[in-house]
This record gives sequence, structure tokens and C-alpha cells, in this order.
Amino acid sequence: MLDILSQNKGIGYVIGKLWFKKSLPIWACQFIEMSIIISADHGPAVSGAHNTIVTTRAGKDLISSLVSGLLTIGPRFGGALNEAGKYFFDARKNNISPDTFVRNMKESGLSIPGIGHKIYHQYNPDKRSQAIQQYAIENFNSTATLNFALEVEAITLQKRNNLILNVDGAMAACFIDMIENLSEFSSEEKLDIINNDQLNGLFTLARTIGLIGHIFDQQRLQQPLYRHPWDDIFYQVS
Ligand code: ACO
Ligand code: LMR
Repeated sequence: MLDILSQNKGIGYVIGKLWFKKSLPIWACQFIEMSIIISADHGPAVSGAHNTIVTTRAGKDLISSLVSGLLTIGPRFGGALNEAGKYFFDARKNNISPDTFVRNMKESGLSIPGIGHKIYHQYNPDKRSQAIQQYAIENFNSTATLNFALEVEAITLQKRNNLILNVDGAMAACFIDMIENLSEFSSEEKLDIINNDQLNGLFTLARTIGLIGHIFDQQRLQQPLYRHPWDDIFYQVS
């Protein structure tokens, strides 16, 4: 670690070493750092921050409040990266067209991981997703997985205008392209990254920064116990 400090390397390099056992080149380290920056926080309204805020306001400690937010990261919120990467990668490797891919997912009754957003849509784009895509296009030799994902997005947008390539999908597709552009990774190592939880690890690490920020906000503002407003609760009386 002292070597890394003396060489002035950043957290992207540390992640390369600790997670992937590689000395990543600067363009890849910067991609990892950019992914962390863009997904560190998205305000208090999202599932993770909400849970964390409620837990802090119930008087719980830092770790309890943090994990209560982290536990919401999953297939719908922030934890769609690995599945998105896996689906896009497999479809491309098996020469499945984006059209057929979307149709197959629909016929299987599955949501496409990495597609869709609660507030962003075609006319109110998610600038985080756009920024990560732009970095990959400008800095990677090839962006075949991202290109595939964007073709999928073009099809899903015909159905609903919020079925965009979201930040999870963009980070996942570009991450796969990053490792595909690196000769350091063997085919087995690439498959390990795709099939295990490494991509979700990136969002989890990043969002931990934001969740801790929400805990400190609540503590600093001395917020009282949270109670959900009745108006928002619907009871069906039979
Ligand atoms: N693929 C295909 N169709 C979809 C998708 C998708 N990913 N998401 C929504 N739809 C369709 C639904 O099937 C439904 O169709 P219908 O009207 O024919 O029944 C319609 O869109 C509305 O579905 P909802 O689930 O109500 O859509 P909502 O906009 O509330 O969902 C969400 C947003 C949860 C993100 C959803 O798009 C989804 O599950 N996406 C995949 C998971 C994902 O990528 N999550 C990460 C989001 S980014 C982040 O958390 C940082
Ligand atoms: C996030 O980064 O938390 C989001 O994209 C999810 C949301 O609903 O805003």
C-alpha cells in the first residue's frame, strides 16, 4: 500500500489490485473512479437512502443505519449491474440480435436488468448514464457491449419513454467493455467478474459514501423519529 501511495495512484488502482489482482492502466482506473463518483448518491428519496434515514432517525448507530440502506440494493435498485452485464454479454457472444433479445426477455416475462428508471426518461435523460457512456466511447478501444445495450434501449424506448439504459446498465455494459479491452484478463477471469458480484460491488461501494452522508445529515440536523404520514397509506376495508 505504501508503494501505491508513493506512486500517487488513486482508489481505482487500489480496487484493481484488491478486487481483480491487476495493475490497471490509468484509463481503466479513471473509469472505476468515475463510476464511484456518479453513483455515490442520488438524494434522500431513493430506497437505500430512505431506509438509512429512517434508521438513523430511530436513534440507531452508524453501522445499523448504513446496512439498513445497503440491504435495499438488489435487482430493482442499484443491484442490477451483474445481471445486466451477464445478459448483454451472453446475448452478444451468442450473436443474438437486440431485437430477439428484447423479444426473448418479454416472452420469458423478465424485466431487462439495466433498463428503466422511475424518474428519468428519453426527454429527461439520466446525465450519469450519459457521462459514463461518453467516457467509454472516448477512452476505450471498443464498446461492443455498450453498443449492444444502446440498441436494446432503442427498442425498449419504443414501448415506454422511461425504458432508458439506466446508470446500472450503462456502468455494467461499459465495465464489460473495459475488461474486454484489457489483455491482462484471461477468459476465465472475465467470466468470473461477469458471473460473480463484482459489478454490483462497484455500486455498493459507491453508494456507501452517499448513505454515510445521509446518516451524518440526519445527526447534524438532529432529526426526530420518523413516522410515515397516514395520507400515504391506503387501507382497503372489505
Ligand atoms: N425491461 C422491460 N420492461 C420493463 C422494464 C425493463 N427493465 N422495466 C419496466 N418495464 C415495463 C414493465 O414490464 C411494465 O410493462 P406493462 O405496462 O406492459 O406491464 C412497465 O414497463 C411499467 O413497469 P414498472 O415496473 O411499473 O416500471 P417502473 O418505471 O416503476 O420501474 C424500474 C422502474 C424498477 C427501475 C424498472 O424499470 C426495472 O425493474 N428495471 C430493471 C432493474 C434495474 O435496472 N434497476 C436499476 C435502476 S437504476 C438504479 O437503481 C441506480
Ligand atoms: C439511484 O441512483 O439511486 C437511482 O437511479 C434510483 C432512483 O430511483 O433515483
